[in-house]
Parts: sequence; C-alpha cells; structure tokens
Amino acid sequence: MDRAALLGLSRLCALWAALLALFPCGAQGNWMWLGIASFGVPEKLGCANLPLNSRQKELCKKKPYLLPSIGEGARLGIQECRSQFRHERWNCLVTAAATPGTSPLFGYELSSGTKETAFIYAVMAAGLVHSVTRSCSAGNMTECSCDTTLQNGGSASEGWHWGGCSDDVQYGMWFSRKFLDFPIRNTTGKESKVLLAMNLHNNEAGRQAVAKLMSVDCRCHGVSGSCAVKTCWKTMSSFEKIGHLLKDKYENSVQISDKIKRKMRRRDKDQRKIPIGKDELLYVNKSPNYCVEDKKRGIPGTQGRECNRTSEGADGCNLLCCGRGYNTHVVRHVERCECKFIWCCYVRCRRCESMTDVHTCK
Ligand SMILES: *[C@@H]1O[C@H](CO)[C@@H](O)[C@H](O)[C@H]1NC(C)=O
Ligand SMILES: *[C@@H]1O[C@H](CO)[C@@H](O)[C@H](O)[C@H]1NC(C)=O
Ligand SMILES: *[C@@H]1O[C@H](CO)[C@@H](O)[C@H](O)[C@H]1NC(C)=O
Repeated sequence: MDRAALLGLSRLCALWAALLALFPCGAQGNWMWLGIASFGVPEKLGCANLPLNSRQKELCKKKPYLLPSIGEGARLGIQECRSQFRHERWNCLVTAAATPGTSPLFGYELSSGTKETAFIYAVMAAGLVHSVTRSCSAGNMTECSCDTTLQNGGSASEGWHWGGCSDDVQYGMWFSRKFLDFPIRNTTGKESKVLLAMNLHNNEAGRQAVAKLMSVDCRCHGVSGSCAVKTCWKTMSSFEKIGHLLKDKYENSVQISDKIKRKMRRRDKDQRKIPIGKDELLYVNKSPNYCVEDKKRGIPGTQGRECNRTSEGADGCNLLCCGRGYNTHVVRHVERCECKFIWCCYVRCRRCESMTDVHTCK
C-alpha cells in the first residue's frame, strides 16, 4: 500500500469512526481530516480492511464506487461547519486534546448532546447527500442518475420544458440514511437512548435541508436570446446555502426532554403540545459557554482569538472575549505597489508598507 493510500485510509477511518463513535482510531492529531478529499480512497484495499462497522462493510462491498463520495461528503460537512462558525465562540475546531475512547475528530461536541452536536450531525448527513447526488448527476453511478421522472414534462403554453440534468436527491438521501442511521437498539441508560434518538433526528433534519433547498434553473432559447422557449432543470443549492439554513436551525434549535417515553418531547412544558418538525434541530443538554479553556472537554476557550473591535456581532471583541477585554497588536504588511511598466520589457514596483491593528482576546 502506498503512503497516499495509507493517509487516505487513516483519514477515512478517523472521520467516520469518529462520527459514528464506532471505535477509537488510534492517537491521531487534529490535522487528519484536512484535505481528506485530496487523497483517493484506496478502493483496491477491499472493504473488509476498511475501518467500518459490519453494516457499513456490507454496504461498502456492494458499492465500493461510493467511497470517494463518502470522503467528499465528509470534507464538505467539515468545511461548512468551520465556515459557518468561524466567528463564534465555538468555532467548530477539531480538538487536539482527545482523550482515549473519545472521538479524535470533533471531540466533546460529538457526544455532548448539545446544539453543537446537533449541527455536526446534520451538516455531515447533508454533506453525504450532496456529494452522492453530485456523483449521480455526473453520470458516475449505474444505480442513480439525473431525475428521469421529469423527462418530457413541462408546460408548452408557458414556454418551458424540463431538460438537461435535474439533480435527484432520492438516492443520496437513501444512501445517507443507510450509511449513517443506526437503528436504536437496546441501549443501557436513558441518556444514551435519548442521545441516539436525537442524533437520528438531526441526521434527517440535515438531509431535509438539502431537499428543501432544491431550486429550478432555466436557460433561454429562441432568436437572439428572446427566451421564447426555456429549458429548466432542478438543482441542489450550493452547500454553503445549505450550511446557512442549518446554522439558522441551530440558532433556533429545540431542547427536548431527557426523559424519552414513546417519542421525543419538547422540554418546555408550555410547548409540549407543539409537534417537533422534522426539519428542526434538537438538543438535550445546554452548551458550555466556550469562553474559558476546559482541558477535560477539549474546549480551548477564546483567549488569543482574533476579534473585531467595531462589530456588535458574535465576532465583536465584546462578545467573543466574554468581557475579558482584548490586546491590540500592530501588524505590518509589505506588498508590491505603484508598479510601472518600463519599456521594454519589465515591471518595476515599490515596496509599500501598511500597518493594521489586530485585536485578540485576553
Ligand atoms: C466522476 O468520476 C470522475 C472520474 O472518475 C471524477 O473525476 C469526478 O470527480 C467524478 N465526479 C463526481 C461528482 O463524483
Ligand atoms: C431488547 O430488549 C427486549 C426487552 O426489553 C428483548 O426482548 C430483546 O431481545 C432485546 N433485543 C436485543 C437485540 O438485545
Ligand atoms: C468588523 O466589523 C465591521 C462591522 O460589522 C465590519 O464592517 C468590518 O468589515 C469588520 N472588519 C473585519 C476586519 O472583519
């Protein structure tokens, strides 16, 4: 096995094992997911040797060609999590201080049952739908393709018809469920049972976000772009948009009771009667405030984080630094400037220096 394959393997291992808390993947650093998609998955290794549970191995044996999409889905999910939370106290950072037996990937947040857990599950499940569907539409798969139910449809009177390749999320949804959703078995303790139910719900909420944000694109035909006839197709939104919706769901997420009876219920007694929507993100436990370092949980705290002095938002020094104040350093930038073209043939530039203030939390 070559080195790239090994690296790819260790990344895949870390990623899904961590996500599913299947087993510890050894003492890896916090870097292993970086660029997971830049390495090919070693398909020739065979599914039996991949670090998957028995259900996933079965699935893998049947569909080894899906492994690149799994890697890509994971990359999408992680990247979007980092991006959506880059200005927040919890910035979706992978923890370095993973204690044995806990996930080396998202660490504490993966099993804490908090809003952050909810977002991670939703965005990872959505990422898998997105990447598998892309692969279907690209014609890379025999068992899925563009949405064929739309062929020949449309409205002649309104001057448009379905054409091109419409993304069909059904296969991706199916695969994401099959790969990620484990049936709730007899687990010991109420806590783990409610956490499992919560995770399953949030997986589905992530997938629903992809389906909900399907949109229609059209292209005009006709004499000199007159748009007399339009060809339209359904397309998934960019993963950024999906991440944005999920961030919104995170901000409005619903706390559920940790006592699970026949089904999950809202914790807020006044709202018990309101059914839980399948697109809502659910959590059980309150989040820590993420302000100060907590070594045990692998929370780094916000000390040293860069903040924005003039912003009123989460990235503002006030909120991000939790009222501790901030330090200001002057950072010098040097760049080429005032470049002139000298006849003939070179460009001469000056070196310009500029100073900017950078604020970091105390
Ligand atoms: C489809 O397969 C080709 C060749 O294997 C690959 O380069 C491309 O990235 C794949 N596209 C998707 C969306 O999976
Ligand atoms: C689950 O629990 C029920 C009774 O509570 C028992 O009958 C059943 O065999 C258990 N299933 C497994 C897979 O342990
Ligand atoms: C800081 O926040 C202000 C107000 O929200 C914004 O206009 C500005 O671009 C931000 N600065 C940086 C460096 O992000």
